[in-house]
Amino acid sequence: MKKQIAVLPGDGIGKEVTKGAVDVLQAIGDRFDHQFEFTYGHIGGVAYEVTGSPLPDETVELCKQSDAVLLGAVGGPKYDTLPVHLRPERGLLKIRKDLDLYANLRPTTFYASLADSSPLRKEIIQDVDMLMVRELTGGLYFGKPSERRTVDEKEAVVDTLFYKREEMVRVIELAFQLADKRGKKVTSVDKANVLESSRMWREVAEEVAKRYPSVKLEHMLVDNAAMQLIKNPKSFDVVVTENLFGDILSDEASVLTGSLGMLPSASLSENGPYLYEPIHGSAPDIEGKNIANPLAAILSAAMMLRVSFGLEEEAAAVEKAVDEVLNAGLRTKDILSEGKRAVSTSEMVAEVKACILGHETISSIMGAYA
Ligand code: IPM
Ligand code: MN
Repeated sequence: MKKQIAVLPGDGIGKEVTKGAVDVLQAIGDRFDHQFEFTYGHIGGVAYEVTGSPLPDETVELCKQSDAVLLGAVGGPKYDTLPVHLRPERGLLKIRKDLDLYANLRPTTFYASLADSSPLRKEIIQDVDMLMVRELTGGLYFGKPSERRTVDEKEAVVDTLFYKREEMVRVIELAFQLADKRGKKVTSVDKANVLESSRMWREVAEEVAKRYPSVKLEHMLVDNAAMQLIKNPKSFDVVVTENLFGDILSDEASVLTGSLGMLPSASLSENGPYLYEPIHGSAPDIEGKNIANPLAAILSAAMMLRVSFGLEEEAAAVEKAVDEVLNAGLRTKDILSEGKRAVSTSEMVAEVKACILGHETISSIMGAYA
């Protein structure tokens, strides 16, 4: 198989972790005889520095001509004083909109080997297997007007929560399709006791549910969902929610099983290409130190193999390699616990690659004597 992959490393640790993911994809290409071609583009603060825009047209073109997009992270304190339209986050929001990436899939998987890194007790998080489906191109993130105002000679501000019904239908429909292939349950999260947009969201969820009789629909208010994620995360299968609620809840979900540094995501559109990125941010405080956790980016590459290219065996090989290095006790700093072995970003990547290629490594040797 031959595939074109656009790589947008972005800012901070984005560069280090995407390099890790690219290395791993290359190892998969070697083992399974695929040809992955990587073309690099700028996004975020670095794009602003090089081109004057956080998302230059060349980058959008590159993505549109590719089979899939791998993104690192954007942002950093040095860009905080830029005007809003030039900020790195603008680049990220614009690529989502330009590629119409309306559904952001954020899986939370339980790793037995990381149970110690979770802030929750093991019996609460054991076997959590949840998929958050976040609407990604609407809601408060994109609604107009969004501006400062003067009202009665006093400072005021407005942001707008806007959705077309069809934007709700397509993402909720996707959540049901995914649930149908998994645990057959959709939890639709809203704030229907207060917001009109949420009341429409609930209506649409009811409508879509009729087309999936084998999938159970549950409605949950967002404040309660925030609580249930901590109290009883196992009760969730597929969670579907609007953009801002999904942003907040998915960060919460990500720490359940250890670290933000572990969680991948896939953003889907109607016609592709899809975009894959770790959930974590650019972590400027640890940039360039070779200590960032590359596993979220690597697991995002696994999602790419599965979802964009239909390469299930290859995706599983990446996930198995990640499992193996964790079982062997190797940890980047964010997931380090007592008795485990601290490794750098590049060592972690090397170990994952070695597992994929069946080479001898520290982890395989340690695994043999474990
Ligand atoms: C995310 C991030 C972004 C978001 C920021 C960087 C704009 O937090 O992907 O979750 O809020 O969507
Ligand atoms: Mn976020």
